[in-house]
Amino acid sequence: MRLAVISDLHLDINQINEEDALNEMAQFLLNQQIGVFVLAGDTYNHLKDTAAFAEKLSARLSPVTKVYYLAGNHEMGDKTPDQVLESPLDAHYLHRKSLDIGDYRLIGNNGWYDYSFDDGRHDEALIHRFKQSFWYDRRIEEVLSDNSRAARSAKQIQEAVLTAKAAGQKPIMITHFSNDQQLIDQLPFSRPELTVLKAFLGSKKLGQQLIDLQVPILVSGHVHWQQEPHRVQQTTFYNVSLGYRTRRIHEWRQGDFFQEWRERLLILDL
Ligand SMILES: [Fe+2]
Ligand SMILES: [Fe+2]
Repeated sequence: MRLAVISDLHLDINQINEEDALNEMAQFLLNQQIGVFVLAGDTYNHLKDTAAFAEKLSARLSPVTKVYYLAGNHEMGDKTPDQVLESPLDAHYLHRKSLDIGDYRLIGNNGWYDYSFDDGRHDEALIHRFKQSFWYDRRIEEVLSDNSRAARSAKQIQEAVLTAKAAGQKPIMITHFSNDQQLIDQLPFSRPELTVLKAFLGSKKLGQQLIDLQVPILVSGHVHWQQEPHRVQQTTFYNVSLGYRTRRIHEWRQGDFFQEWRERLLILDL
């Protein structure tokens, strides 16, 4: 079966007409005979919009392609309570769910960040103050510290990976936030004081944990930076973010959203 994953479409910020997106994506996914399609977060700035988009796309693709989504920080920023984000929500929400594809098991989790990508360069209290003053995620309901929230997610992931292995399935992990140290290391920052932002990109601790567990495939988004897949020991890391093209920010290689989408879409034959 073919699996396709993309993240950070930011359909609202990129000003993409929803009907056009549904038509283009449905046609391409059907042509490619994709069995499972995952939107790995930051599809819209509101969870309701992302859920509705997944439902509409699913209606067009059923029964050939199953459609799933995760919540990125942009969906979470609509003030959806943490308790709701942690709940099963609907049939398409992949967070804390697993799905068998042949001898692989797809494991979905939104993920979180624990400041481990900062490597202790900044004081934790300072990082948190920076977040609450300037960062997009100040909008997200904060019921736990970032560290505890990341630990909760890592525990959910570890349990799912161990359960998959016990069942003889090979885990494929999909998260919104990054676990990829090599990706974070190559990010350029225009001003040194902005390197504090690395703290909010994900968890290198979780990445190491998944390498140690010999998870063969890790897919994530959130970091709008294009990098070829790379391997650490037995784990291959993929970043599938599409990113922004606005008047101020130009992150695409192609001039057209749908060209960019086709190019960034990760397709794996399982
Ligand atoms: Fe994003
Ligand atoms: Fe994000």
